[in-house]
Amino acid sequence: MTIPAGDAPLFEILHTCRAMRRLKPDPIPEQLLLQLVDAALHGPSGSNAQNWRFVIVRDGEQKKKIQALWRKTWNFYQETLAKAELRPGEKPEDRRKATATGTYMVEHIHEVPALICVCVAKDEAIAKALASPATLVKAVQNFGLTGAIKLAAGGGRTRGLIDGSTAYPAVQNLLLAARALGLGAVLTTPHFFVPGQFEEVLGIPSTVTLAAVIPLGYPMGKFGPVKRPHPREVVSWDHYAK
Ligand SMILES: Cc1cc2nc3c(=O)[nH]c(=O)nc-3n(C[C@H](O)[C@H](O)[C@H](O)COP(=O)(O)O)c2cc1C
Repeated sequence: MTIPAGDAPLFEILHTCRAMRRLKPDPIPEQLLLQLVDAALHGPSGSNAQNWRFVIVRDGEQKKKIQALWRKTWNFYQETLAKAELRPGEKPEDRRKATATGTYMVEHIHEVPALICVCVAKDEAIAKALASPATLVKAVQNFGLTGAIKLAAGGGRTRGLIDGSTAYPAVQNLLLAARALGLGAVLTTPHFFVPGQFEEVLGIPSTVTLAAVIPLGYPMGKFGPVKRPHPREVVSWDHYAK
């Protein structure tokens, strides 16, 4: 696939790659959608499995079904997590703005031209190797019995982390590519609140993990600088600073 390279400098792109929740309904050419997926596909993946899958929702009926689920999760979020106490340095105004744009997004989700749902398919080769008794023997040999038990006990969490670790670099590539092409996007995870329900609407089988739902469209507002702390506020050298 021949893809035209964007020419905006990388650091300018990532310093202005804001979460964009107010999106115009204007359609996005299929070629651009594929270009975004191509950017995602250039990310790293666990064991180089490259097991990403993408469901791009453009159909109005599908978007309405997604919106109905999303409203439930958004109501729940507003009534609970959005009311959590402010973090150190967090301003009530910022929290209020994020909630307002979130509400706008959910109420207009059926109008956005595309939703890119990023998925990670089960890596069958690795799953087979992990399930083999020889793997358990090697775990004991390398990590000792206690280490092997800890490894086995933490397996579920590790699998979730591995799926996420494969999904989110691809997602970030996609968000940066969208920004470079002048498209607004936001990483969202409403499906976490209603396990299986977004997957059912999208026809995603149980062997595939839905990692992110990315509403995408030409932005109503402007791309602006994201607010982040100075690196020195979050860095410690050689040991974690408590
Ligand atoms: C794991 C994760 C889950 C997120 N889920 C949602 C979501 O469900 N809905 C939403 O509107 N934004 C979601 N976001 C986007 C964050 O709210 C956003 O990145 C953050 O507010 C920073 O925005 P900014 O880059 O414009 O400063 C999510 C981000 C991450 C990393």
